[in-house]
Amino acid sequence: MQVTQPFLAYRIDRVDEKISGQLQHITLDDISPGDIIIQVHYSSINYKDALAATGTAPILRHFPLVGGIDLSGEVIESTDERFNTGDLVSVLGCELSESRDGGYAEYARITADSPIAIPHGLDTRSVMAIGTAGFTTALAIHRMEINGQNPDQGPILVTGATGGVGSFAVDMLSSKGYEVHALTGKPSERDYLKRLGAHKVIDRNKLKIGTKPLESARWAGAIDNLGGDFLAWITRSIKPWGNIASVGLASSPELRTTVMPFILRSVSMLGINMSVPRELRIELWNRLANDLKPYHLEEIVTREISLLELPQAFDAFIAGEITGRTVVKIR
Ligand SMILES: NC(=O)c1ccc[n+]([C@@H]2O[C@H](COP(=O)([O-])OP(=O)(O)OC[C@H]3O[C@@H](n4cnc5c(N)ncnc54)[C@H](OP(=O)(O)O)[C@@H]3O)[C@@H](O)[C@H]2O)c1
Repeated sequence: MQVTQPFLAYRIDRVDEKISGQLQHITLDDISPGDIIIQVHYSSINYKDALAATGTAPILRHFPLVGGIDLSGEVIESTDERFNTGDLVSVLGCELSESRDGGYAEYARITADSPIAIPHGLDTRSVMAIGTAGFTTALAIHRMEINGQNPDQGPILVTGATGGVGSFAVDMLSSKGYEVHALTGKPSERDYLKRLGAHKVIDRNKLKIGTKPLESARWAGAIDNLGGDFLAWITRSIKPWGNIASVGLASSPELRTTVMPFILRSVSMLGINMSVPRELRIELWNRLANDLKPYHLEEIVTREISLLELPQAFDAFIAGEITGRTVVKIR
């Protein structure tokens, strides 16, 4: 299939030091070089996409670039023998919307190491419903388990619980038999979190985080999306041998704590970065199609929007107002 006509893309540019995105018609000559051309079916919105599109944090390394760190679709041209026309694939991260043009366009050109064949049991929409948020959650759980986490040790705290990563963490952990305590700034979403499997919902606005080097140990582990004072408080509140998966910085990138939780309680801090070697990416996608398959995926997808609706969608993510996942239907 030849792409001869201009196509629609959401492109982020910097003009007079101000970063913003807009819908434009572009051609294949305008996008990054690569081995494989994809007809994009779906993308999604992650917190990082909102940071990039609004210029809230410096995500793009050069301008202009098509936004969108996730994409799924069909291979329509490949110079790499591992992929053929008609293959259905997904790409998460892999420099999309950082140094390469991303998934908010009808067509994308990618390097041959980026795509993963969509595993049996998932399709181009469900892999974008899961997207970077679900994949990162699977990585966090995978690392916690390797480090000995199991449901018998006690409850797991999930912060930023109504967000993408948070929703998947509540869903996947509870499906695996963990008692999940969900910390949220949106107490109005208590029923949503309960439906996903939360045993307890804690109102972030009423939280007293204390200042002692060690607080009473309440949780056997945590998946943290907030960073800052919340993460410092979590380090002080984890039971001996517990694991904290540090995923995000929605509150702050800072971390001020002491070594006490580490040297007196053997607490482990696991850094989570979703850019992992290809073999692990394939393994995690297989888990996401099987034992970590989100049980409430359609409930977690709270919105499906079109490319035309994209420009208005980002501010609510920065304001922390979004519940669940937003899928972007491209084709
Ligand atoms: N390390 C990695 O590889 C990786 C991968 C994916 C995401 N991340 C990071 O993980 C975090 C979550 O990502 P996401 O895509 O799930 O984002 P999201 O859907 O926007 O969810 C973030 C959630 O955090 C809470 N929140 C937002 N602003 C806050 C603030 N100022 N103070 C305290 N809580 C706030 C809100 O939940 P409540 O209202 O329920 O509290 C919000 O729904 C982000 O920081 C993102 O950059 C990292």
